[in-house]
Amino acid sequence: MTIDVDAVETATWYHTIDLPGGISTPGTYDLRPALSRLPWPELRGLRCLDVGSRDGFYAFEMERRGAAEVVSLDIDDPSDIHFPAFRPENELIQNDLDNGKRAFDLAHQSLGSTVQRRCLSVYRLEPEAIGTFDFAVLGTLLLHLRDPALALSAIRRVLNGPLLVNEAVNPSLDLFRRRPVAEALMWRGTPFWWLANPSGIARLLEAGGFDVVASGRPYMIRHGTGARRQSLARCLRRPFRDIPKNIVYTRGSPHCWFLAQPASTPPPG
Ligand SMILES: C[S@@+](CC[C@H](N)C(=O)[O-])C[C@H]1O[C@@H](n2cnc3c(N)ncnc32)[C@H](O)[C@@H]1O
Repeated sequence: MTIDVDAVETATWYHTIDLPGGISTPGTYDLRPALSRLPWPELRGLRCLDVGSRDGFYAFEMERRGAAEVVSLDIDDPSDIHFPAFRPENELIQNDLDNGKRAFDLAHQSLGSTVQRRCLSVYRLEPEAIGTFDFAVLGTLLLHLRDPALALSAIRRVLNGPLLVNEAVNPSLDLFRRRPVAEALMWRGTPFWWLANPSGIARLLEAGGFDVVASGRPYMIRHGTGARRQSLARCLRRPFRDIPKNIVYTRGSPHCWFLAQPASTPPPG
């Protein structure tokens, strides 16, 4: 397998992916250390789905674990994105989607992968469009969606087995009480809607038609070598706003995993 090293170096990577020849992509995030804490079932022979796959880290991991078929689901049409205060014609969105597709294609080619890329919004998952799956992964996606429970119920329509969710959380929402809560982010110009505490994610899963069968404790997904850090000058310009955030986020992004099974009764609607 020949690897286009120049293309790998000049691409914009979200994921740190190990390619043949000792090359690791300079991702914004490095999920490799998180792999061992996730409760992977036996995947050999299964048809698997990676929802919101971006560069394809989880999809390639499922292929490596022996899945019979893997579908990497993402979108290529900016009108499928509903971010607060963004317009579909905003070229930042198109650039970002193009970067994800280019990174996936490069990793796919370098790994000699047979993962199939499908461009379809999670809300449009239907057995007629994509078939059904034995296992699915969803990573760091719910906080970007206007309707996370609707997205989960769409995944349930095509899933006959477990769903592994590894989602961004705000554990500080647990400081006062452990009941399900989510904060509305919606900062101008950012692609975020909500950040829930772990109980909030569990509640969303139930609302989407899943029973949570296991979950982990919050942990940090580490930045990769491609992460951009806030400059010191910028931190000092707005010290109260940026320093506390940077202390947490210099280490990465707090996440929590959940293993869920489709509930016997489908969600309403
Ligand atoms: C933050 S990245 C997460 C990538 C990967 N799942 C992970 O955990 O590292 C979110 C991905 O979801 C995709 N996405 C956003 N809205 C989507 C939608 N409605 N349907 C499918 N994918 C979507 C984005 O294009 C992006 O690639």
